[in-house]
Amino acid sequence: MALGNPDLKPLASGPAGPAPPQHIAVIMDGNGRWAAARGLPRAAGHRAGAQAVRRTIEAVMEAGVTWLTLYAFSSENWRRPADEVLELTGLLRHYIRQELAELSRQGVRVRVLGDRTRFEPETRAELDRAERATLGNTRMNLNMALSYGARDEIAAAARAAAQAAADGTLDPAALTVEKFERFLSTAGMPDPDLVIRTSGERRLSNFLLWQSAYAELIFLDVLWPDFGQAEFNGALAEFARRERRFGARPA
Ligand code: IPE
Ligand code: IPE
Ligand code: MG
Repeated sequence: MALGNPDLKPLASGPAGPAPPQHIAVIMDGNGRWAAARGLPRAAGHRAGAQAVRRTIEAVMEAGVTWLTLYAFSSENWRRPADEVLELTGLLRHYIRQELAELSRQGVRVRVLGDRTRFEPETRAELDRAERATLGNTRMNLNMALSYGARDEIAAAARAAAQAAADGTLDPAALTVEKFERFLSTAGMPDPDLVIRTSGERRLSNFLLWQSAYAELIFLDVLWPDFGQAEFNGALAEFARRERRFGARPA
């Protein structure tokens, strides 16, 4: 799927249900509660969560979905105790080191969404390396939302647009939705069709607020480390029952 493809516009549902999702985004929540339920430290929950990430990428790829965005660390997650932040960033580095070769072999292109400058240099280098190493892959696109916050992203886009206007390369009166989107970190990507959140929480927690304007939302009670093929299939089946209208009249 080429970036910037103008055909990536949402299709309304037909009589046979909506077009299959092109982009699935997941808020991977509930690692801490999974660990607590077992009397384990939160770190054990995060490690089990990393296994669920592997399973999910496999399942998504097998389903032929070409875009997957995983919310792994929010801009607000920096508020957690230092030891948990350290644990999470360490796990992230470990995960990338361990998985990069296999992801690349499977044709996955990795991109990072979020403010990577907040990570220490070693982690940043790992993220850069993952993006560089998979640059030419086209089978599936994996976005890792790390130190990501939608409000930060939209504010940064507004800053960039204002700068372009100040530089004289953008006419403020001509700033349309389409032009504004080019300043977002998801420029050229299809919007998520489906956002799944695990752990029973029913909120977006600052995830892809702009891009999810017409996403179908599915909230599952399962905790992220327990998310697997059955839950994924269930979410796809639920998505297929939804009627997407994008504001138009029902079919
Ligand atoms: C999701 O699990 C992982 C991150 C947010 C980094 P949590 O750590 O939020 O787990 P709960 O919500 O406390 O159970
Ligand atoms: C959202 O989960 C962020 C990620 C899953 C990475 P949180 O656990 O941080 O969200 P809140 O605090 O419950 O809203
Ligand atoms: Mg949580």
